[in-house]
Amino acid sequence: MTLAGNDEIIPRAGVIGWPVAHSRSPKLHGFWLQQYGLAGRYDKLPVPPEDLAAFIADLPKEPGFRGVNVTIPHKVAVLPMMDAVDAVARRIGAVNTVVVQPDGSLHGSNTDAFGFLESLKADAPAGWRPDAGPALVLGAGGASRAIVVALLDAGVSDLRIANRSIEKAEALAVEFGHAVRPVAWDERAEAVAGINLLVNTTSLGMSGQPPLEIALDDLPASALVNDIVYSPLVTDLLARAKARGNAAVDGLGMLLHQGRPGFAAWFGVAPAVTPELRAAVLAD
Ligand code: ATR
Repeated sequence: MTLAGNDEIIPRAGVIGWPVAHSRSPKLHGFWLQQYGLAGRYDKLPVPPEDLAAFIADLPKEPGFRGVNVTIPHKVAVLPMMDAVDAVARRIGAVNTVVVQPDGSLHGSNTDAFGFLESLKADAPAGWRPDAGPALVLGAGGASRAIVVALLDAGVSDLRIANRSIEKAEALAVEFGHAVRPVAWDERAEAVAGINLLVNTTSLGMSGQPPLEIALDDLPASALVNDIVYSPLVTDLLARAKARGNAAVDGLGMLLHQGRPGFAAWFGVAPAVTPELRAAVLAD
């Protein structure tokens, strides 16, 4: 139990993962707690897979515990442990935010789709809209699923998915319907023709990983390029996009915006994403 001065229970949240040492979420939520002058705690909570079920079952019994963020490798496993799961999380197939309800039941949601769209809304040039044309998403893993759901919900009707293992892109097309079109990895450069948005959801371009190779010759000048990789902040893909005059949005915004709904539910204040927050999380 965590007690404040007058035996008042301090609201608590955290991030569960295994390992969890790399998570930037404590910095993000810690910054907001301080900015808004709130009594609260947000901790890194290392939970090995074999302890996940017990941890989740005990969550409502911990005084002050309002919920958790969920990261690798628990996002999929935690879904059936919830009492209720929102429709977006169900379609993505993963939960990243758990809120303990006043009656002790557990509500699971996935704020990655929200965070992705909010980051584009905040950081894209004025007038750019996700539904203005086709999108090409590179990758078909967990992050891609959240972005596919976000783009379909935003009204994108031609959603191309290029993945090294084509079966995974094909499975997404079967699951999400005819708007989704699988593209062979070797044909990704051709698939940029006519698009309004290019998103990298693969790990390529991340520090320590090989660069993402994709020819941008056919990319329309009006297309926005987004990389969900944020380390480095300006990936080779974003640098090449900028150099040819395309608008580019980095991956930090998605991380920051996806944290907003959880913070609001746990600590009672709808937080803002500001340049100061970006700088603090980047410096972490
Ligand atoms: P995340 O949850 O971050 O999406 P993931 O589910 O492991 O992580 O997905 C990683 C994505 O990066 C996949 O689309 C993967 O392609 P495969 O499905 O073919 O594995 C892609 N990826 C990783 N390394 C890659 C590489 N060297 N070349 C091309 N794609 C790669």
